[in-house]
Amino acid sequence: MRRPVFAANWKMNIGPTEARAFMAAFTAKWTPRADRSLIFFPSALSLGTVVHALAGRSDIAVGVQNIWTEDKGAFTGENSAPIAAEAGARYTLVGHSERRHIFGETDEQTAKKCVAAVRAGLTPILCVGELLEEREQGITHDVVLRQLTAGLRELSDETIASMAVAYEPVWAIGTGKNATPEDASAVHRFIRDALIERSGIAGESTAILYGGSVNSTNCASLRAADHVDGLLVGGASLDVDTWARICGT
Ligand code: PGA
Repeated sequence: MRRPVFAANWKMNIGPTEARAFMAAFTAKWTPRADRSLIFFPSALSLGTVVHALAGRSDIAVGVQNIWTEDKGAFTGENSAPIAAEAGARYTLVGHSERRHIFGETDEQTAKKCVAAVRAGLTPILCVGELLEEREQGITHDVVLRQLTAGLRELSDETIASMAVAYEPVWAIGTGKNATPEDASAVHRFIRDALIERSGIAGESTAILYGGSVNSTNCASLRAADHVDGLLVGGASLDVDTWARICGT
């Protein structure tokens, strides 16, 4: 999955009506490009609309922002990987910092969610990243390695080669304060080494995306940073023109 990846995380924004208009405008503007992968992560309630709008556009994929660990059953309010796959998702985020820090998602759950995703044929994008106080304490690498090791624990090397990891420092998400390309590069390098240590040559193929206050001004330098294979973008993916510009970097 080393082809550059541009992933839009809409979070809890953009309902079906707006999603329909967004996708009509975006697909009119965006010409398919074989040199990159685009993925939209809409709200689960807008997923069907986005999938429908992308019929005939196999160059753009859709994913869910979260899944539960089990395939079905009495888990009111949750979405499962098989249901997401049936609805047209091909990817799922796992362990996004908002899941971890607002909803208390544990490393243990990220491990199970990655397994559930693969079982249903979804490609997981495992999100990792440190809090500001952890960075200030100098334990960024320890935190990232712990989250990475736990999330990937049950996965085969083959899966690891075909999935993505997103490095999203928590202090950079939605704050307007992005990591510098140098900081991102250093952590991405560390993640790459950890993946190779874990999975040998397969660890060279995993895409490592950067996320956290990416916008149309800083996207080019972050995208060009060593060891950065793509971008996971929240706020700046909510505007058609801005998002198209970022995808073009
Ligand atoms: P942001 O969010 O681009 O709004 O900082 C990124 C993310 O949470 O994936």
